[in-house]
Parts: sequence; C-alpha cells; structure tokens
Amino acid sequence: MITPLSIHAILANFWVGGMFFAYWVLRPAVENLALAEKINLWAQVLQKFFSWVWLISFSLPVTGYWMVFHELGGFQNVGIHIHVMHIMGWIMILLFLYVYFSPFKKLLWLTKEKLYPEAGLYMVKIRRIVLINLLLGVVVSTLATVGPFL
Ligand code: HEM
Repeated sequence: MITPLSIHAILANFWVGGMFFAYWVLRPAVENLALAEKINLWAQVLQKFFSWVWLISFSLPVTGYWMVFHELGGFQNVGIHIHVMHIMGWIMILLFLYVYFSPFKKLLWLTKEKLYPEAGLYMVKIRRIVLINLLLGVVVSTLATVGPFL
C-alpha cells in the first residue's frame, strides 16, 4: 500500500542498501582493476546512485514530517526513537550534501581531466563518508523498527 510510511521505509532501504552494495560488494569486486578503469567506473556508478540519493534526501524528511505532524500529533507526542531518527537523518543528509558538492564534484572534474591518482584521493574521502553514512543508516533504520518495542 502506498502510504507516507511505506514510501519512507522503501526509500530508506534503497539508500542504506545502495551504500551497503557500494561499500561491501562493488568496492572489493573492482579493487584489482587498473586505476583509470576503476575511477571511471566509480564516477559513473556514483553519479547514478547520487541522483537517487537526491530524491531520497528530499523525500525522507517530507514523508517523515508528514507522519509526525499529520498522523502522530507532533514531535511532543513521538517516542525518543523518532527524535534520534530525525537528528541522525539530518546528519546523513548533510554528509551527503558535503560529499556531493565537495569530493564528488572534484572527483568528476579530475576524472574528466584524466588525473586519476588525484581523483583516487577524493575517492578515499567519499568512501570514508559513505561508510559513516552506511553505519548511521543501519542504526537509524534498526532503531526506527525496534524503537516502538523498547
Ligand atoms: C530526516 C528526518 C526523518 C524523520 C522526521 C523521520 C520520521 C519517521 C517517522 C515519523 C516514522 C514513522 C514511525 C512510526 O510510525 O512509528 C519513520 C519510520 C521509519 N524511518 Fe524515518 N525519519 C527520518 C529519516 C529517516 C532516515 C534517514 C532513515 C534511514 C535511512 C529512516 C528510516 C525509517 C524506517 C526504516 C522507518 C520504518 C520503521 C518501521 O515502522 O518499521 N528515517 N520515520
């Protein structure tokens, strides 16, 4: 059924699942490729994935606030797990915006200029922040699900 909660949960799964796939599946699988090939691949993969993350970063707060204010009676009536999700959700979104506008934009430019070793340095930065967001996303999603039963 299409409800704000189902849209919210599906998009959260796409985001966390996408980061899990990138970090723990694709990264080790392409580790032995030549640097130029690897950087070009990651530039394209991240470009496509980040387009989804833009949509998700917009939709999670919209559906989240919709539920809080239209269904749950405002922040004064929700459990601590929703407050934690709210704060951690914004930290994840701000980290994404930083990655997108700083290391990712530089990665794209350096890849276009074929400066692969320099681009690799920004890849490392992106990877670290994606790992932080992955861990935050796992905690937030788990807390969102088990929170009401604590
Ligand atoms: C940015 C601000 C956010 C707000 C205001 C928000 C708010 C909410 C609210 C009100 C619910 C419904 C809870 C209930 O009915 O008991 C919910 C559910 C959920 N949220 Fe968030 N959320 C936010 C961000 C996130 C993020 C970043 C993630 C994960 C990446 C996430 C994952 C989930 C999941 C998986 C559920 C479904 C839990 C379940 O019922 O099993 N949320 N959220």
